[in-house]
Amino acid sequence: MDRNSRIFVAGHRGLVGSAIVRRLTEAGYGNLITRDRSQLDLTNQAEVRTFFERERIDLVYLAAAKVGGILANDRFGGDFIRDNLLIQTNVIDSAWRAGVRKLLFLGSSCLYPKHAEQPIREDALLSGPMEPSNKPYAIAKIAGITMCQAYRRQFGFNAISAMPSNLYGPGDHFDPETSHALPGMIRRFHDAKMAEDPTVTLWGTGTPRREFLYSDDMADACVHLMEHYDDEEIINVGPGDDIAIADLAALIRDTVGYPGTLTHDLSKPDGHPRKLMDVQRLFATGWRPKVPLEEGLRRTYAWFLEHAAPERIRQAAE
Ligand SMILES: NC(=O)c1ccc[n+]([C@@H]2O[C@H](COP(=O)([O-])OP(=O)(O)OC[C@H]3O[C@@H](n4cnc5c(N)ncnc54)[C@H](OP(=O)(O)O)[C@@H]3O)[C@@H](O)[C@H]2O)c1
Repeated sequence: MDRNSRIFVAGHRGLVGSAIVRRLTEAGYGNLITRDRSQLDLTNQAEVRTFFERERIDLVYLAAAKVGGILANDRFGGDFIRDNLLIQTNVIDSAWRAGVRKLLFLGSSCLYPKHAEQPIREDALLSGPMEPSNKPYAIAKIAGITMCQAYRRQFGFNAISAMPSNLYGPGDHFDPETSHALPGMIRRFHDAKMAEDPTVTLWGTGTPRREFLYSDDMADACVHLMEHYDDEEIINVGPGDDIAIADLAALIRDTVGYPGTLTHDLSKPDGHPRKLMDVQRLFATGWRPKVPLEEGLRRTYAWFLEHAAPERIRQAAE
């Protein structure tokens, strides 16, 4: 792919978008175009159209979205369905109209049916009832995937869709109310360490297994797919293995250096026993993750201490 291509990374300040910018820069792509929300609100159709008409973009990484954990999805379902439908519709349609050569759209492993067979293959999408808690987000994202496929078929637009697993890394959201599970755990162990609490309590038995991919690996996969994948079929992006939540919690406790103990609140539900995606299709293209979980957690916690720890934020505000 031409290293001088004009590349728009939408959502460049987010977890995935910032990692894509780092990866593209490292790979020698020098012509990156970014806009933060105050410069370009992607929910605003007129602004997005004008932006694409003016900027003569070649490639689009669509990493802007309204994203959050279970609580946020539950409370703000209206925001999730509206913002995601608007952002993706505006970007995909305007990109096609302006003659963009290729676009990468991001779905999520949580779009698959609640009881999909494990490991989850790409053809499981829409094969059964979905998890109700994130339905507004999932329906919006599935509309985005379908839009990419329909624009490819009707208009010949080279739009591809990837299905990332749970992601984590520098730039993640650590708010206890709205974050995903892994950064939420980092925050809880850190807060317990600072407050010298003797125990941290984990919901459920800790036996459910989940998969986690480091954001730099996700970005590397995105660039790889942009360079090598041109199919209308969605493609899973994950580490290919999973870990029990209790083992993840122990790893995070060690990374944070929390000296207390870990207990389980067995009155709380466990959720699905396993969520692992089948990544054979991706691995067949020659891609593999590079950052082991221990290393990724170490880097993420270092970033958290520098940028997102509550005492750090208080310090910066003073
Ligand atoms: N994180 C995960 O575990 C995970 C897992 C599977 C799939 N994904 C997918 O990966 C993609 C990126 O997720 P992420 O975790 O990187 O999310 P993120 O950290 O929340 O970043 C999202 C980015 O989108 C921008 N954005 C949101 N609304 C916007 C608007 N109206 N106009 C302009 N920019 C807007 C945000 O800007 P502000 O900084 O101004 O808010 C932010 O930079 C999403 O499509 C998500 O569905 C993520």
